[in-house]
Amino acid sequence: MYEHLMMEVKGQTAIVSINNPKSLNALNSATLAELNTCLADMEQSKDIRVVIVTGVGAKAFVAGADISEMVNATAAEGRDMALLAKEAFRRLERMPQATIAAVNGYALGGGCELAMSCDIRVAAENAVFGQPECGLGILPGFGGTQRLTRLVGKGRAKELIFTCDKIDAQEAYRIGLVNKVVPQAELLDFCLMMADKMLSKGSYAIALAKMCIETGIDTDLNSGLNMEATNFGLSFATNDKKEGMTAFLEKRKATLTDF
Ligand code: HXC
Repeated sequence: MYEHLMMEVKGQTAIVSINNPKSLNALNSATLAELNTCLADMEQSKDIRVVIVTGVGAKAFVAGADISEMVNATAAEGRDMALLAKEAFRRLERMPQATIAAVNGYALGGGCELAMSCDIRVAAENAVFGQPECGLGILPGFGGTQRLTRLVGKGRAKELIFTCDKIDAQEAYRIGLVNKVVPQAELLDFCLMMADKMLSKGSYAIALAKMCIETGIDTDLNSGLNMEATNFGLSFATNDKKEGMTAFLEKRKATLTDF
């Protein structure tokens, strides 16, 4: 169905793999367009509740935007490519499903930016992160100046972007760029286990919490707290709230189904 993506569904978890192995999964416009379509379909789905994003092969998650496509691109084409990535990557942050980046190797430039658009990043021990754009005479254009700064702070973001240093998984963990580091062979199983843990919780509650976090981070504390109160109230109107709390009081496991 897709030329540049592989899709696998395991229960309520979808695994989307960037599939351009000849260029270490570099993101060209066609791949970004497919990713956008794929995520637009999935965000409507009630059956898929967690999305794992990864790259095909053992060497790269995504080695960046496709340099062979960008080399002759005009300013307008560069901007359009950035806006296409913005649309696709924004979906990852806004879709009701929880998203996990399973970073299985190089996550450079647009690859690091794709990983940063996911809710959670799990890195294999061999993962390498970096924003090498300034070495190519451009700047991060798929959200790096914004998301890296929000994740690791202004000083570290500027250091990584200005020096183009590549960092390994442990360093990425140390600075808060990734949530976990696991052995390469266990990466997907670990992510699926994390997905299962989320699936045993309230998917609708997780979607509301995600929305509060994503919207709240762009607003002032008071507006964020008011938004949280509204959504907290909304969660009280769900079957999951009744079942979750009743199950606790009856000392049994809850079965939460809302989404
Ligand atoms: C196009 C790429 C690519 C990329 C790798 N390849 N990265 N092609 N775009 N981003 C291709 C190589 O040209 C090569 O093709 C094949 O993949 C294997 O790569 P090698 O370089 O031979 O592998 P290796 O020596 O192991 O080095 C791996 C690497 C290196 C360190 C990841 O490939 C590398 O530095 N890649 C570029 C990383 C980068 O600068 N990313 C940021 C891009 S800019 P052939 O045909 O020779 O086999 C960006 C901007 C985002 O992301 C915003 C835009 C708006």
